[in-house]
Amino acid sequence: MTDRYAVFGNPIAHSKSPRIHGLFARQTGQDLTYEAILAPLDGFAPTVSDFAATGGRGANVTVPFKEEAFRLASELTPRAQAAGAVNTLSFAGDAIRGDNTDGAGLVRDIAHNLGVTLAGRRILIVGAGGAARGVILPLLEQQPAAIFIANRTAARAEQLAATFKVDGGGFEALAGRAFDIVINATSAGLSDAVLPLPTFLFAPGCLAHEMLYGRETPFMAQARAAGATVADGLGMLVEQAAEAFFVWRGVRPETAPVLALLRNE
Ligand code: ATR
Repeated sequence: MTDRYAVFGNPIAHSKSPRIHGLFARQTGQDLTYEAILAPLDGFAPTVSDFAATGGRGANVTVPFKEEAFRLASELTPRAQAAGAVNTLSFAGDAIRGDNTDGAGLVRDIAHNLGVTLAGRRILIVGAGGAARGVILPLLEQQPAAIFIANRTAARAEQLAATFKVDGGGFEALAGRAFDIVINATSAGLSDAVLPLPTFLFAPGCLAHEMLYGRETPFMAQARAAGATVADGLGMLVEQAAEAFFVWRGVRPETAPVLALLRNE
């Protein structure tokens, strides 16, 4: 019997995950289906239970259900625990195993696709919400020189920074600092909002990584103007999917051809 997988979100119609996992399955010869399922905002848990009860083997979880998936899981990997959110579920009997592949996807995109070393580098994470929290542990595991978390609401950055024993503060705390890698984990780009980032923040040779994809955000334009190399979130999207595929199937798909295909669509 063909194994079933799905992504749950709300909205979900424009998700690229079915396309990505379909390409992975074909490439690796894995016998599986992967669909997009719209869960009602007040009905995530029953929708997932139905899916697991009718042959679902695993699922991805996207906005706005990652924290709910974290609470639903009966087991959590250390990286899901650290993220406080789950984007990958595996069903085995009554157990619901929760994992989070977002941080691994970001690390793989930076290190492998973009060819930038994380070890010994100064990293700035802009934003202190779920997207920021989700990537901190995997970034720390790469042994950067330092991680600084900057956020519009300073208290949120300070709290998140304390959790991971790194530094953090409001945007004004960035004065006089420079970074080798700047990651935008805010949702500001969705509304074309400009972040008040000082230009000297981007050290020579800096990589600026936007987590959003499908649009040139003000952050990307700012970074480009400051001379940084700029990447959007499409590589991270494909890499977090590949990591989830590996969690479920024990097979690591090749991401380069899939990323190239999506870029051209
Ligand atoms: P997510 O799960 O996407 O991280 P979130 O928890 O709502 O969503 O967090 C959104 C992040 O984007 C926060 O860091 C938020 O800053 P605040 O904590 O100050 O709200 C940031 N953000 C959203 N819009 C922004 C804007 N226009 N300027 C600066 N930061 C913004």
